[in-house]
Formats: sequence, C-alpha cells, structure tokens
Amino acid sequence: MSTTPVVDPTSSTHAHLRPDYAAPPESTGQSKRILVLGATSGIAEACIQRWASRGESLFLVARNPNRLAAVAADASTRGARFVDTAVADLDRTEHHADLLAHAVNSLGGLDVAYVALGVLGDQSKAERSFHDAAQIVHTNYTAPVSLLTWLGNYCAQRHAGTIAVLSSVAGDRGRKSNYVYGSSKAGLTAFVDGLRNRIDREGVRVTTIKPGPVKTAMTEGMKGSERFADVNKVAASIVKSIDHGEDVVYVPGQWRLIMAIIRAIPERIFKKLNL
Ligand SMILES: NC(=O)c1ccc[n+]([C@@H]2O[C@H](COP(=O)([O-])OP(=O)(O)OC[C@H]3O[C@@H](n4cnc5c(N)ncnc54)[C@H](OP(=O)(O)O)[C@@H]3O)[C@@H](O)[C@H]2O)c1
Repeated sequence: MSTTPVVDPTSSTHAHLRPDYAAPPESTGQSKRILVLGATSGIAEACIQRWASRGESLFLVARNPNRLAAVAADASTRGARFVDTAVADLDRTEHHADLLAHAVNSLGGLDVAYVALGVLGDQSKAERSFHDAAQIVHTNYTAPVSLLTWLGNYCAQRHAGTIAVLSSVAGDRGRKSNYVYGSSKAGLTAFVDGLRNRIDREGVRVTTIKPGPVKTAMTEGMKGSERFADVNKVAASIVKSIDHGEDVVYVPGQWRLIMAIIRAIPERIFKKLNL
C-alpha cells in the first residue's frame, strides 16, 4: 500500500531560529512573557496588538517571514517590552522541541502560550481525498498535540503558566458542510480538556477558546461573512479570558447557547438538515 506523507520530508521549510536574538527580558512581575504560535493569524494578530499595547514581552512564530516581520514591527511600535520571532512551518513536528526551547529561552521563561494556527481546508476536496483530509487533521490536531505536549510538561514542571488554544464551535458537532475541519477541532477540544484536567492541579491554567465565525482571512468570501464577528471584539474577549485563566470560552458568548441548541437536536432530524 502506498501512502502520501502528510508532511513533505523533502520540503526546505523548517524552523528558522534567529541566532542573534536580544537578551531575554528581565522578569518584572508585571510584563507577561507570551509565546504565540501562528502569529500571523487574524485573530492572533489582534490579540498581539492588545498585548503589545500593554507592554508585554512577545515571542512570535509563523511560517510567512514577511508577514511575521510586519506583525513583530507593529508590536514593537505599539509598545511591546520585547519582541523576538522565529519562522517555522509548524506542520514540521520534528522541530517543535528545539523551537519551543528556543522561544522560552529567548523570553526568559513563559507566562502564556497561545496556540493559534489552523487551516479551514477545502471540505469538498477532503471528502474525496484522504491526503487532503489528513493535511487538515495534521495542522489542526496533530501539530497542536505535539506543541501542547511539550508546553504542558514545561508548565507542569514549573507549576506555572497559562496555555490557551484556539479550537472552534465547529468541533461541537459534525456537520456536512465542514466535518473534516470540525472533527480536527473536536479532537483538539477533547485533548485540551484532558490536558486541563491533568495539569490544572499543577497550577497551570488551560483555556479552550471556541470562536464562532470571525471576519479573518480564513472566512473571507464566505456566504454571510459580513455578519461574522469583528476580530478586534473577539480578541478583546480572548485576551480577557486568558488573563482570568478561564476554562472553556465561546466567543462571541452567544455561541455557547447556539451550540447547546445545535447539540440538542436529535440525530434523526439533524441528519436531514443542511448545516
Ligand atoms: N475565523 C474564524 O471564523 C474561526 C472560527 C473558529 C476558529 N478559528 C480558529 O482560529 C485560529 C485562527 O484562525 P484565523 O481566523 O485567525 O485565520 P487565519 O487568519 O487564516 O489564521 C490561520 C493562521 O494559521 C497559520 N498556519 C496554518 N498552518 C500553519 C503551519 N503549518 N505553520 C505555521 N502556521 C500555520 C496561518 O499561516 P499562513 O498564513 O502562513 O498560512 C495563519 O497565520 C485557527 O485555529 C482557526 O481554526 C477561526
């Protein structure tokens, strides 16, 4: 049986770590040291802008060097106390340990890790091609599991830190329109729930964030996208939830009720709906 690798091992894209990073910020007890994985995401970028304005220290990871440089420059301009970056294709799980060790070393520790990467993928292609489905599952589930395993153990050993993860309301129930993406987020939600259950008692806060549809590059051009939530309002809620170390957050908040209703629809009716 032949299989197509989910991650192309011949790709030259890999974690590119800057050897000349600035000296780690000294901990003042006020400025938080925040690691963002998937820093060019529209939602992450809006959170970074808020953290930068508060003078937090940031380590930003993304795979597009030009966009990452722009996000980092903007964070510096807004008042971040310290900004360092690494270019990395986070699908390449074999680089995660080195990348994460480098990031916490650069920050001089870690107060918040924010896992934001994700792909919507193409549901119609993924229905026909295991390769396409597996790529969505790899980026949205397998790669975050690798990152979270390292981060969970790092924080648990130190009895400190907050880990926040962007999952999705799409993980609350499989729907015909996006069940491949939804299933990857369902898996991620369950993993993060279990991680919280394991390490909350070690003094680590783990926050699952479930956005409803938000206006970002991911949803651009979608039907009804003009009614999707404003990314800056969503970011404000997310930053507040991370500050408070909340467990499971729906953003905007009404999605908690909407998803409770959707989950309550009996399967014999649900399977006939076009959702
Ligand atoms: N927007 C919504 O309606 C919505 C709703 C629920 C949940 N979410 C979740 O929220 C998160 C952020 O989404 P968003 O709306 O901000 O979308 P976005 O702007 O498209 O951001 C997704 C980010 O993930 C990055 N990424 C994907 N694969 C990567 C990889 N292999 N290595 C490194 N970075 C990678 C992308 O980088 P490139 O640009 O380089 O590809 C991009 O910066 C995602 O996990 C998404 O599933 C979004």
